[in-house]
This record gives sequence, structure tokens and C-alpha cells, in this order.
Amino acid sequence: MAVFVTRRIPAEGLRVLSQAGGCRVQQWDSEEPVPRAELLAGVAGKRGLLCLLSDRIDREVLDAAGPGLKVISTMSVGFDHLALDEIKKRGIRVGYTPDVLTDATAELSVALLLAACRRLPEAAEQVKNGGWTTWKPLWMCGYGLSDSTVGIIGLGRIGQAVARRLKPFGVKKFLYTGSCPKPETAAEFEAEFVPVMRLAEESDFVVVTCALTPATQGMCNRDFFGRMKKTSVFVNTSRGAVVNQEDLYDALAHGQIAAAGLDVTTPEPLPTDHPLLSLKNCVILPHIGSATYATRSTMAVLAANNLLAGLRGEPMPHELLL
Ligand code: NDP
Ligand code: DGY
Repeated sequence: MAVFVTRRIPAEGLRVLSQAGGCRVQQWDSEEPVPRAELLAGVAGKRGLLCLLSDRIDREVLDAAGPGLKVISTMSVGFDHLALDEIKKRGIRVGYTPDVLTDATAELSVALLLAACRRLPEAAEQVKNGGWTTWKPLWMCGYGLSDSTVGIIGLGRIGQAVARRLKPFGVKKFLYTGSCPKPETAAEFEAEFVPVMRLAEESDFVVVTCALTPATQGMCNRDFFGRMKKTSVFVNTSRGAVVNQEDLYDALAHGQIAAAGLDVTTPEPLPTDHPLLSLKNCVILPHIGSATYATRSTMAVLAANNLLAGLRGEPMPHELLL
């Protein structure tokens, strides 16, 4: 069972593969993404592929792998980097890593929301650059969660975990949107299902935790930001492409919304001269939602176990149903 691993992953994951009988591992053993040519060469003739969200697995890669490729295991819950139609056509099974990163990502989403609404990076910078001269009544004020309305775009695993963490801050009302109402899930937060534009209009905080799909691509655009309150804060920890970044820049620069926190951007990494980085009211993180040591280790082990189960023709711990 020859497999290709596209990056250096936590040792615990690689150990699962190397200790499995009959598994021959070839790895791109680097912190940096595998160059496309190396990916195409590495996957050739392999039965299994363990990849990351930064690897675009499309028809070209599948052709390079050849008909022997039976399993793709991604060390991520998001799967927008996989050409699922093409993968399904070829009868390839797919494993992914839901649940194990939900807590870490929800925690980071809350941290990012607080950093953006209470202006933490901007305030910390003032301490370093001498901007802190005295205590001033109106200096460095932001917006708090008490009595607020929070709108969650995508009340899935992470969206629910965010709501669960925000509730004790004194949130008055939760709104959510998605493909259809989920009354049983929403009951825990007494959350109301609303159309996306009503969510934009009524929320003091908008948190995006949906999957990237053709329906969600670019959904946070000029119209959306135009409906938001001038005092509202926008947070995205899903995928960068859910947001039209030019429209977000305009909304932030012209005071249409108060602040934003982004853990994901287009592209990644965001060029250091990107206009969004010039704004004080935009906090940008380098896609670290799931970045705790324990979570990344668990993700790697799960991805390895998904791959092995698929190669053995057994049920995977977490298989994506195509
Ligand atoms: P889930 O599948 O549990 O949740 C996805 C949610 O997206 C569902 O609630 C779904 O709602 C919603 N959704 C789908 N279509 C739409 C739509 N048109 N409008 C609004 N909502 C929609 O996934 P997870 O919560 O586990 O993960 C969500 C995403 O978070 C991942 O796909 C990934 O991209 C991202 N992520 C980012 C991380 C980071 O490091 N920043 C870490 C982990 C994940 P419905 O059921 O109604 O369709
Ligand atoms: C995912 O898993 O989809 C995240 O973006 C990284 O953990």
C-alpha cells in the first residue's frame, strides 16, 4: 500500500502510518507546501494520499496518480480544495477531520471577535509606541457583547460551539442562517433562523462559520456589508472566499462597519502590502483556528487512521459521504 503524504505532519500521525503493516510512506518532509511538480510526481502510482487544505486536489493530480488511487485523506474538516465530482467519478473514498478541531476553532473565533471588538492589537501597539499618555474617557473604546445580537452564518459544529462560548458573555439574542432551519440545534441558544440580509441588518456581531460552497462563495459582499450597522463587527473563521475582500475593505475604510476579524483570507498568505493590512480596524490572523498542539496531533492521527481504514476497505472513522 504505497501512500504519499504531502507535508511534514505531527509525528503521532506519521507513526500511525509507519507502524501499520504493509504501508509504504513517501512524504514531502517540509514545513512548506509541496511544489505542484513534486505533488504530481509524488502521487504517481500511489494507492493513498494524505493531503492538507493547501493542496489543490483536482483532475490533474488525479490523472497523475493514476487508476490505483483509492483513498484521499485530508487533514482538515474543510474540503473545498478537493474536486469532489471528479473524485466521486473515479470511486475514490475521502476521509476528513470533523469534530476534533471544533473546540480549538471556536475558541479562536471568540478570541478573534474579542480582539476586533475591543481593539486589542491596536491598544497593545499604543503601549509600545508611546500613544498611551494617560487614561482618557473616550480613548480605545470598542463594542461589548452584553445585550448584543450575534448572527451566525452556518450553525454547524463550529458555529454551535461559538454560540455556546458567547452565550455566557450576556448575548441577548442569537440569529443564524443556513440552507434550512435547524430547530433542534437552535433551541440550545434560542436562536432564530433568518434570511442572510436580515441577519446582516440586525446583528451587532456577525460570525461566519459556514463551509465554502458555490452558494456561500462571495456571499459577504457590498450588499451584505451595506446592510450591517455602523457599530457592528464582522468575524470570519470559515474560508476567505466567503468574503468579497474589496467590499470588506470599503466597508471598513468608510465606516460602514466598525471592525473585522479574519482568520482566513484570499489568498493565503495575504500579501503584506494588501490594503486590508493598512486598516487599524481589521485584525488578521494566519489561519490558526485549529492551531493547538493537541488538536493538530489529533487531526494528524485521525487523518492517518482514515487513510489506513480506506486502504483496508474498512469503515473510516470519518468518511466524507460523496
Ligand atoms: P459543518 O459542516 O458542521 O458546518 C458547516 C455549516 O455551513 C453548516 O451549518 C451549514 O448549514 C453551513 N452552510 C452551508 N451552506 C450554507 C449557506 N448557503 N449559507 C449559510 N450557511 C451555510 O462544518 P464545521 O462547523 O465543522 O466547519 C465549518 C467550516 O469551518 C469548514 O468547512 C472550514 O472551511 C472552516 N474551518 C476553518 C478553520 C480555521 O482554522 N479557521 C478550522 C476548521 C474549520 P446547513 O447545515 O444549514 O447547510
Ligand atoms: C480545516 O480543518 O478546514 C481548517 O481550515 C484547518 O484546521
